[in-house]
Parts: sequence; C-alpha cells; structure tokens
Amino acid sequence: MKSWYRKALEVGRDDAEKINYVAIAAKQLYQAIHSVIEDVCLYQPYRGISLLDAGCGLGGLLDYIDAHGSRISRYRGVDFLPEYVSACRRKFRYRPDTSFKEADLEYWTPREKYDIIVINGVFTNNFKGNGFGKFIENTLDKLFPFCEIALVFSYISSSFIDYHLPGRYYMDFSTVYKLCSDRTRFLRIIEDFPQYLGVAVMYQGDHVAIRYGSGKKG
Ligand SMILES: C[S@@+](CC[C@H](N)C(=O)[O-])C[C@H]1O[C@@H](n2cnc3c(N)ncnc32)[C@H](O)[C@@H]1O
Repeated sequence: MKSWYRKALEVGRDDAEKINYVAIAAKQLYQAIHSVIEDVCLYQPYRGISLLDAGCGLGGLLDYIDAHGSRISRYRGVDFLPEYVSACRRKFRYRPDTSFKEADLEYWTPREKYDIIVINGVFTNNFKGNGFGKFIENTLDKLFPFCEIALVFSYISSSFIDYHLPGRYYMDFSTVYKLCSDRTRFLRIIEDFPQYLGVAVMYQGDHVAIRYGSGKKG
C-alpha cells in the first residue's frame, strides 16, 4: 500500500499531462472542501476551528486553506508515509498549533475531538481488493465520533461512467448515500466535478440544528 503511493509519485513526475489533470482535480476538491470549512466557520463565528486531515499527504489542503484564508486554529495531519510526515513538519514548522503524525488510519485512533475531519484522496485507491469497502466503513465508524461538526471525504464517483481503471476505487451515489446515512441523518453529497469525483459531508446533528435554527439536537 505505501509502496503504491511512492511509485505513483515517480510515475506522475514523468507525465506532465497526468500531473496537470491531477492538479486540476486536486484543486477542485480543495475548493469544495474549503467551502465546507467556510460554512462551518460561518456558524461558529466566535472561536477558531480545529481540523484533522486524515491522509494529509504533503499538506496540499493546508496550503490551500492558508492561501484562501480560514479560521483553522488547530491543525493535525496524519499520514502513514514517513517521507510525507517529515516533509510536512519541515514545511509548516512555523505554523502555530500545527502538528503531524505518522500513522496508519487502519490502526490509529484519535485521542481528541476536532471540529472538522477531512479524508481526502484516501478512499480513492484500492489496495485491499474486497477488503477496501470494509476499510472505508471502519474508518468512518472510528473517526466520525471524533468530529464535532463535520466529516468530509472525497471519492471517485461511478454514478455517470461505465468503466473502471485498475487500482481505483469507485462508489456510486447510492453507495455513498448509504455510507453517510447509516451514520448520520445530516449529510451532503457533491458530485458536480468534471473528473468524476465526489465529496461527501457527514454532519453531526448540532451543526445542522444551528444552521436551520431548530435548536434541537440531531
Ligand atoms: C491522494 S493522497 C491525498 C493527500 C492529501 N489528503 C491532499 O489532499 O493533498 C492520499 C494520501 O493518503 C495517505 N494514505 C492512504 N492510505 C492511508 C492510511 N491507511 N493511513 C494513513 N495515510 C494513508 C497516502 O500516503 C497519501 O499521502
């Protein structure tokens, strides 16, 4: 699994077109995730927001957040590749209340809660064959209780395509809907990306109650 990510980096370097395609897709995902973060900030105006970036890679999301402005006051990145973790530690060493941990999401459990948990690009590459769906479910089951407001994850959508590239993990709308609705009544699924990507947001009830003013707990 780890070697796949190392190899993918090497292959990507030789293929400018692929890099461009991936860069555009990554930016669109960051935009969508950032808009969810902004939405959360809007409804929590009086304090900073904490964020867990599960599978943080080289910290691309944090770069995007910092470039576009957000009230992320505490950031924690987790990745199982030590190269990524040490690169992030170097890159963000002056950023206050920012930390990185080397850990495999399959075995790691957070010790504290975060307002927002982001899992971007982790559920998109399948290394486990039939076990990958279970990995996704277990990860959501484990992490969702540690989010105070919203958990966001990206995926490759098969809702509108009839081909599958090897190594990629595809989910259609109904699978994603079930993944979310089994865990919360408050969800949002965004599938308007040209690259057949999707972003799902699972809200804890309180946030939605604040948003719609019911005052009731979900
Ligand atoms: C496609 S990259 C996305 C990186 C980052 N989330 C971003 O938005 O730029 C996926 C990342 O997830 C990490 N990853 C995949 N499976 C993981 C696991 N089980 N535990 C920890 N990290 C994992 C990989 O090492 C890689 O850095």
